Amino acid sequence: MSTVLRRILVTGGAGFLGSHLCERLRAEGHDVLCVDNYFTGRKDNIAHLLGDSLFEAMRHDVTHPLFVEVDEIYNLACPASPIHYQFDPVQTTKTSVIGAINMLGLAKRVKAKILQTSTSEVYGDPTVHPQPESYRGSVNPIGPRACYDEGKRCAETLFFDYHRQHNVRIKVVRIFNTYGPRMHPNDGRVVSNFIVQALKNEPITLYGDGSQTRAFCYVDDMIEGFVRMMDAPDELIGPVNLGNPVETTVAELARLIIELTGARSRIVHRPLPVDDPIQRCPDISAARRLLKWQPQTALRPGLDRTIAYFEKLLTERGETPKRTVAAA
Ligand SMILES: NC(=O)c1ccc[n+]([C@@H]2O[C@H](COP(=O)([O-])OP(=O)(O)OC[C@H]3O[C@@H](n4cnc5c(N)ncnc54)[C@H](O)[C@@H]3O)[C@@H](O)[C@H]2O)c1
Repeated sequence: MSTVLRRILVTGGAGFLGSHLCERLRAEGHDVLCVDNYFTGRKDNIAHLLGDSLFEAMRHDVTHPLFVEVDEIYNLACPASPIHYQFDPVQTTKTSVIGAINMLGLAKRVKAKILQTSTSEVYGDPTVHPQPESYRGSVNPIGPRACYDEGKRCAETLFFDYHRQHNVRIKVVRIFNTYGPRMHPNDGRVVSNFIVQALKNEPITLYGDGSQTRAFCYVDDMIEGFVRMMDAPDELIGPVNLGNPVETTVAELARLIIELTGARSRIVHRPLPVDDPIQRCPDISAARRLLKWQPQTALRPGLDRTIAYFEKLLTERGETPKRTVAAA
């Protein structure tokens, strides 16, 4: 737990990870400014914080400069799921690159410490497993995922250049698949897709044969990693992988979600999307060693909490789940 109270900017603060981070930082007593253009974020995600005098929400697009006085910046603004980042790919690259320039410029002006939420996508379709931070990646620069992958790679470059050239205090974490309450229900990500389909007793769509693996980290563990990285000594700049090294095949995930929801859904197969990585698993030895961090939440309890969230959301939207057995 941090002891010194600070003014902290969270860009993308109304999104999935951002809203959990805002909550955590407020719980520690910090003065939190959430900046978001609500492209994929939702006011509902932060509604419970709005009455709090030390929490402020500002509608702003990070591709425009921002002038505020803060001590720390967590830069999360960027659509994160393929459906959303491919909706307007030029804007996605602008958000990553111009957003990084604007937030780094702000950090430089006000001498703030700044943390970038980079991604395992910087490794592309990796040829090394699991991926350590030293692996330089295998990214297709002209494919449909490039707006996100290359935008995030360029943002990392900018962070390191602002550090070398302007002595900005930077921190870079590379996030692997994270799931939990407040994920977007229609973002096409595997966990939210399967849960929503299962809760509606619809067929579960498996891309490819389902043998591709993912490593799923529960949101609370990820937020703990962000905070530990920000609070670490200035010399620790990263990049540091954050994610769960326990691999699960997508087919196993589908079976587990069917079991936990009691769904009657059957599994249907669809072709694998272009550039979809076959295997993705973090090497988190750096996070273990340097941050004393590793995920604490097992997949089953994490999925239970996520299923409960989606069940409530669907009910509120009148898309009443048709489950036959209650989730544990
Ligand atoms: N969730 C994951 O598994 C994962 C994995 C790797 C990296 N990340 C990174 O973590 C960060 C947060 O991801 P998330 O899963 O919470 O996604 P999210 O889409 O829920 O959150 C992103 C937030 O950024 C906002 N935003 C987008 N463009 C903006 C702009 N130009 N100006 C201001 N706000 C803007 C969105 O409205 C949204 O609230 C992203 O940078 C993402 O790349 C997430």
